[in-house]
Parts: sequence; C-alpha cells; structure tokens
Amino acid sequence: MELSKIWEKLSKVTGVRKIMNDIQKTLAEAQGDIINMSAWNPVILPELENFWKQQTQEFLESEEFWEVIGRYGSTKWYEPFLEAMVDFSNTHFFAADWKKWTKDNLLVTTWSQSFYFFAINAFAWTLENWIKKKVLLPQSPEYTWYGWMWLEEDIFFPVEPSYELNRESKRYHYTVNTKNFPEDKKEVWLIIISRPSNPTGNVISVEELQAIYSYVEGTDIPVLLDSAYAPPIPNLAYDKFEMLLHPNTIVCLSFSKAWLPWERVWIVLGAEKFLDPIEAFESNTCIMSSRFWQAILSSAIQSWELEHLSKSVINVYYKKKFEILQQWLSQYVQNDVPYFLHETKGAMFGFMYFENLPITDEELYQKLKKKWVLFVPGNSFFIWVDKKNYKHANQCMRISITVSDNEILKACKVLWEVLDELY
Ligand SMILES: Cc1ncc(COP(=O)(O)O)c(C=O)c1O
Repeated sequence: MELSKIWEKLSKVTGVRKIMNDIQKTLAEAQGDIINMSAWNPVILPELENFWKQQTQEFLESEEFWEVIGRYGSTKWYEPFLEAMVDFSNTHFFAADWKKWTKDNLLVTTWSQSFYFFAINAFAWTLENWIKKKVLLPQSPEYTWYGWMWLEEDIFFPVEPSYELNRESKRYHYTVNTKNFPEDKKEVWLIIISRPSNPTGNVISVEELQAIYSYVEGTDIPVLLDSAYAPPIPNLAYDKFEMLLHPNTIVCLSFSKAWLPWERVWIVLGAEKFLDPIEAFESNTCIMSSRFWQAILSSAIQSWELEHLSKSVINVYYKKKFEILQQWLSQYVQNDVPYFLHETKGAMFGFMYFENLPITDEELYQKLKKKWVLFVPGNSFFIWVDKKNYKHANQCMRISITVSDNEILKACKVLWEVLDELY
C-alpha cells in the first residue's frame, strides 16, 4: 500500500519512541520483576485518588451530567470551565503592568501533542524565497516530543547545550544563552521551553527568561512556556518559582501530573492573535476536548481544593523522592565515577551526565536493562543536535522518580555496579 509523504515523516519510530517500544516489550517479558524508572506516569497518591473519585461522583449525580455528555457543545470549550479558568488565570498569572485575561485569551485543546503539532505547523514553514521560519528550543536537552511534529523539513534550530559542572557537589546545570540564538530574528517563528523542564528538572531563571523576552521584544515571535509541572497545579517546583509574563508569552497548562494523565485537557493562555490560528486547526481536526472532564475540572478549580492538594501533597511527595534519590546516589555511587546529577528545581525526573562514558547512553541503557533497571537514554532529548559530533548528548540518562523508596535504593546500587565495571 502506498502512503503519503506526510505519513512517511510522522510514522518514524526513532528516538524516544523506539526506546518506549523496547521498554514496553521488556516490561511484558519481566512480568513485574523490574524497576521501571523510565515512566512519566504520576504516582497514585491516595489523597488525589479520593479527591477525583469524589469530584466524579458529585458530577455523576448532578443535573448537568446528561447535558454535558449527551450533547455536542461549542467547538471551543465548556463555558463554566472557561469561566473558572479565566478567574484562575487572573489570580495566578498576573503581572503588575498586565491587563486582565478574558475568555478570548484562553483556548481549551485536547492535549499537548495536538496543540504543539498545530502550533508548529501553523507557523514554522518555508517562505517563497526559501527562507525558513523555524522553531527555536533555547533549552537543550528539552521535552523530546516537541521534535517530532513537523510537516516541513528542517524547521528546528538545533541548540547545543551550555552547562556548568560542580565537581565537588557532583551536580551540574544547563544554562540558556541568547548569544547562541539566530541573529536574524525573521527566521524564528516560535520559541518553546518547558519550565520546569522534562527531562532535566531545570527551571530556567527569571534572568534567562527575561533575556528570551528581550530577544522577542518588538517581534511577533510567541514564547510558549510549557507549564505542565509548574505551580499552582501540579506545583512541581521545589524552589521559589516566579512566573514572568510578556505580551508574547503563551502559557500552557496541564492537569496530567495532578493525576489525570489520560483525561485530555490542555489549556493555553495568551494573546488572541496567537491563539486564533491554532483554534481553527484544533476545531477542524478534534472538535473539542472532553466536556466530561472540563465539567469536573470547573468545580475542582473553583473550590481551590486541587491547588491546595498540589501544594500540600503532590509537591511534598516528589520533593521528598528527590531527596532520597540524591541521598542514595551519593551513598552508593562512589565519588571516583565522574557522574553528575542535574540540579533539580522541579518536575519528576532526575537527569544524569556521565563524563567520558566509555560506551553510549543506549549501550548503558542495555546494560542496566539486563539487570532489570530501566532508565531512558538521554540522547533523544537533545532535539536535532548532531549527536555524532556532540558526545555529551550520548552520555546522559533520564531517571523517573515515580517508584518506591526501596526501588530507588536498589536502582542506585545497580547503577553503581554497572558504572564501576565500566570506568
Ligand atoms: C514538558 C511536558 N509537556 C507536556 C506534557 C504532556 O502533557 P499532557 O499529558 O497534558 O498532554 C508532558 C508530559 O510528560 C511534559 O513532560
């Protein structure tokens, strides 16, 4: 059967997709006897479980239930949810010199992938004179899925990361340097950044964000701030977190890490001129996000309970997990191995760099897999970076902390065994 060129591009099983397939196969073979630190599913926390059960129950018994699930609605959103989100946005994403957000500044979409797919392909393209309008990912490594949603060739600027090592503490962190950005801003259409970051747990500083805003000043380049882990929901930031806004900012919000990963609601907040083209794409292809979950979320947000749980339960839980990971890494992985853990300021992953690693990250993944521990090799997070010539991209691993304390301990011991043999 002959299929389209677009299919050819989008169906490639490369990068993280290849590894995810391998992980699924390994999990099925292992039949439970494995430590899976590759996952990005949120942990099942009893407080959240009770909360969502109760919210769902109340909605099932409410008068609006049949109206919500038994009718096609507006192609844009469910009105009470939108009203709740306008209030929420004006409470949390407000700067001193900022106008108030209105319904026109909000878009409810089906999920992050569809939104990024539409945003990237609506705006990044080749002009008639072959000048490209490209996507700039200032932070590298970055959320790998941004990199596989292009219909036009060659529309990402690969950015090699800059990083600072602290040999004493065995920590390091990636920095954003706008000096590496393209001089000709006409070539840049879109900037995307996850803050807090998946995979590194980095939260780019207010100064770094300010520098990005200075770069886009006077242009129409939107800056998408992927806030899937940011406060106030799910509140996976472990230091003081400041949300800095600019007229070009588009804030993207998700409830996936507040325990609804499969109930697809993705909210986008920004200037109308940026949202309108994406809304057209979204309603033509997806019609709208589930009204069932928009209805439940309206009351969850209005009551402030979800915010409260994010702060008092989700944040506290993952912060503790990081402390455990750090403690056991330093206890079990000896100092003469040149490993560095990225300074974690948010999200739910640890990211490690192994200096002068004698094998590639994928080979390291295979060695750990043989001992029934799964991490994700780091290379697919270095989006469009030439990995053959840039070694660092093949010397990292992402570690999910969504496992038990005991599993973190065992995984650290296994990591040490493998590294000790290698170095
Ligand atoms: C940075 C980032 N953005 C977006 C998402 C996905 O969000 P959603 O489940 O709402 O599509 C994730 C999930 O892992 C993520 O890490």
